[in-house]
Amino acid sequence: MPNLNEARKRKNKTQVIYDALQIPVEMIHYGKNKTYFVKTYGCQGNVIDGQNIEGICEYLGYKKAENYINADLVILNTCAIRETSENHVFGLLGEFKEIKRSHPNMVIGISGCMAQEENVVNKILTKYQHVDFILGTHNIQNLPSVLRDVIFDNNIVVNVSSYEGNVYEGLPSVNSFKAKAFVNVMYGCDKFCTYCIVPYTRGKVRSRKIDDILAEIKDLINQGIQEVTLVGQNVNNYGQDLSEEENFVNLLQKVADTKIKRIRFTTSNPWNFTKEIVDVIKKNENIMPYLHLPIQSGSEEILKKMNRYMKIQSYYDLIDYIKQEIPNVAISTDIIVGFPNETDADWKETLKLVNYVKYDNIYCFIYSKREGTPAAKMVDEITTDTKKQRLDDLNKLVKKYAKQNNEKYLNTIQEILVEGPAKKGSNIYMGYTKQWKVVNFKGNKDDINKLIKVKINKVSQFSLNGIKVDE
Ligand code: SAH
Ligand code: SF4
Ligand code: F3S
Repeated sequence: MPNLNEARKRKNKTQVIYDALQIPVEMIHYGKNKTYFVKTYGCQGNVIDGQNIEGICEYLGYKKAENYINADLVILNTCAIRETSENHVFGLLGEFKEIKRSHPNMVIGISGCMAQEENVVNKILTKYQHVDFILGTHNIQNLPSVLRDVIFDNNIVVNVSSYEGNVYEGLPSVNSFKAKAFVNVMYGCDKFCTYCIVPYTRGKVRSRKIDDILAEIKDLINQGIQEVTLVGQNVNNYGQDLSEEENFVNLLQKVADTKIKRIRFTTSNPWNFTKEIVDVIKKNENIMPYLHLPIQSGSEEILKKMNRYMKIQSYYDLIDYIKQEIPNVAISTDIIVGFPNETDADWKETLKLVNYVKYDNIYCFIYSKREGTPAAKMVDEITTDTKKQRLDDLNKLVKKYAKQNNEKYLNTIQEILVEGPAKKGSNIYMGYTKQWKVVNFKGNKDDINKLIKVKINKVSQFSLNGIKVDE
């Protein structure tokens, strides 16, 4: 069983394990003529986990199902960041109760961050007994043996560890994106922002060795991938647990030296986003001028209560410096609305910051109480109506500045990396600019995974429209 108190501790030494995947004999080719369906929620780190889970399923012989209704194996790869994401999963689990009545052999599993929460696991074991297994975030490599125990011994299996995990290299993976790939550079988080469940569900910071990351990226280049996103909860901290040489600036430079066409990274905590990082971006054409720098609140008081370690003036200075050094940069952020006892004055500070930075995009969320975190014990006097009103007001600003920023691109020529049709079967295709702006244009399937030029002829707050140009 998971245990959040245990998960808080940071005491074990990390090991890098290269041959983690062991297949019990009964499972070799077991999935032949069977199908799987994995539904992933949450952050890019969880997307990578979902890709590994799919990779393991295919390794066992399963084929991907179009949807979950008729799949033999269904895995919900969950996120615990807010209550809404959890409710969604419980809703779907309710549906599965019905589905399993007519498909009694369907195997249903839960993976991802919800699997690390004891209250969730208890609820599943008592109220959702049609779930066959729960697989923790440190345990993905055990999927074949978990399936064995479920299928051959008819057991309900909980395979979750609450100690800091290891680094598992070389798990199989399925990348359904045609043009891009996510690459983990580090796992876990030691920051313990007071509202956040991640340090408990993902364990302590463990960085991958720089050589393993570079080898993976070279492999992706050989497969034709044009863009990589380096993924971690705070990539600035990359290598804090390794040698001095292995730090984020060196990593970025070495990835840029592979000559992959485009590099992004997420997430960077602005607190330790240094001038050296700005310099390395400036120096390398292939590092995209798009920065996601989550601030959470414009009020220093609230930041302190969040344990976010940042003087708000330093954030203003950092933004000024970035805009001066990288003039074509696009910046986005995350904001939590209605942290416990956020006053009107605090909220005004947030609006002031938003009006100053004029973000390209903001991911805003109403604060959600996460059991087991320090903020969950704070008394909160702010009403839901106030929080909703604040979120509405913020959303209006987000739209206003997104549109304003997008207007800068009208009549310019932009390079985009084409992902595919904007909608299934449509001849309108979509791709991303270097600043991570969506562009829709009339295209065809030969454009997929190509870097092409488009002239922007229309903009809205969400996206740009363009026409292909031969240049
Ligand atoms: N490691 C990243 C954030 C990962 S979580 C960072 O520190 O920037 C992604 C976002 O979810 C956070 O930036 C925050 O805005 C939001 N979030 C996290 N916990 C939350 C909670 N309890 N309620 C509402 N939003 C939350
Ligand atoms: Fe959560 Fe803070 Fe870690 Fe980000 S840095 S994952 S918000 S604890
Ligand atoms: Fe969600 Fe876990 Fe990622 S809580 S945001 S899936 S680390």
